[in-house]
Amino acid sequence: MSGICDGRVVVVTGAGRGLGRAHARAFAAEGARLVVNDLGVGLDGAPGPDSPARRVVDEIRAAGGEAVAHGGDIATTEGASSLVATALEVYGRLDTLVNNAGFLRDRMLVNLDEDDWDAVLRVHLKGHFLPLKHAAAHWRAEAKAGRMPVARIVNTSSGAGLLGSVGQGNYSAAKAGIVGLTLVAAAELARYGVQVNAIAPAARTRMTERTFAETMTAPAGGFDAMAPENVSPLVVWLGSAASAGVTGRVFEAEGGRITVMEGWRPGPSADKGARWSPGEAGETALKLLAEAAEPGTVYGA
Ligand SMILES: NC(=O)c1ccc[n+]([C@@H]2O[C@H](COP(=O)([O-])OP(=O)(O)OC[C@H]3O[C@@H](n4cnc5c(N)ncnc54)[C@H](O)[C@@H]3O)[C@@H](O)[C@H]2O)c1
Repeated sequence: MSGICDGRVVVVTGAGRGLGRAHARAFAAEGARLVVNDLGVGLDGAPGPDSPARRVVDEIRAAGGEAVAHGGDIATTEGASSLVATALEVYGRLDTLVNNAGFLRDRMLVNLDEDDWDAVLRVHLKGHFLPLKHAAAHWRAEAKAGRMPVARIVNTSSGAGLLGSVGQGNYSAAKAGIVGLTLVAAAELARYGVQVNAIAPAARTRMTERTFAETMTAPAGGFDAMAPENVSPLVVWLGSAASAGVTGRVFEAEGGRITVMEGWRPGPSADKGARWSPGEAGETALKLLAEAAEPGTVYGA
């Protein structure tokens, strides 16, 4: 196979099903050699009996590609470091990391248990940080040894993290945190040849079965807008050398649409040059709000 990722070694976390599987297969179809990670857990993170990473490895190999499975938990130091080590041991290099693994524990905030908060923050936020850290340490060593990487990280945020989503306080906080992590990583790692971007995807997977219930069944013929495979081409491009110069950005990707998300930036502002009284601060805040753009609607509000 040959394509825009010829010669590259790509790690995709949570690639045993859904979006990660689609990304891994799309990278392989563009000539990349893959490490397919998946712990094989249920929708809520509970241990599952299957080994979906191996199935995806078999699919990639059957299509003529190269792939190996990694079954570790990416939110642990052991899992994240062995993931990077697997790429280096099997292929001798690492070029792209796609952070994608995660699960949901949806509850309204008043009903959200501490365990559900911790589990979702852990798998998404720590599960992005640890593989990123271990991959970045490798790329920094390469840069210092005079072998400047052309390295890419693609993180997975969500519309829930950008706009908020009712019943997903834990998930929204984690996915907003991933945007902050992406901005810092892009700024810190540029000197080592590493570009870091994030996507906010939407696709029909087991995670969104209920959300996209009416589009669960692919239309007979025609374009299946909710297929996870629609999100992968942008991820493959961001993970390739062809995306040179693009870093610290967030893209929404759904169906046939790609949107650059424009984040927080200063809006209307007033400076008294001295301390406001609470009454003055309130009056000024209301005046500024009247001049400011309306925020986007929170999903489900
Ligand atoms: N599907 C959507 O519309 C949508 C929208 C916004 C964001 N996302 C994000 O996209 C990513 C993929 O979601 P999906 O819809 O494909 O879900 P999915 O449940 O189909 O796939 C997620 C995979 O991650 C794996 N996983 C979970 N915890 C893991 C861990 N600790 N270590 C390794 N693997 C682990 C699971 O076993 C599963 O195979 C997630 O980060 C999700 O939050 C999805």
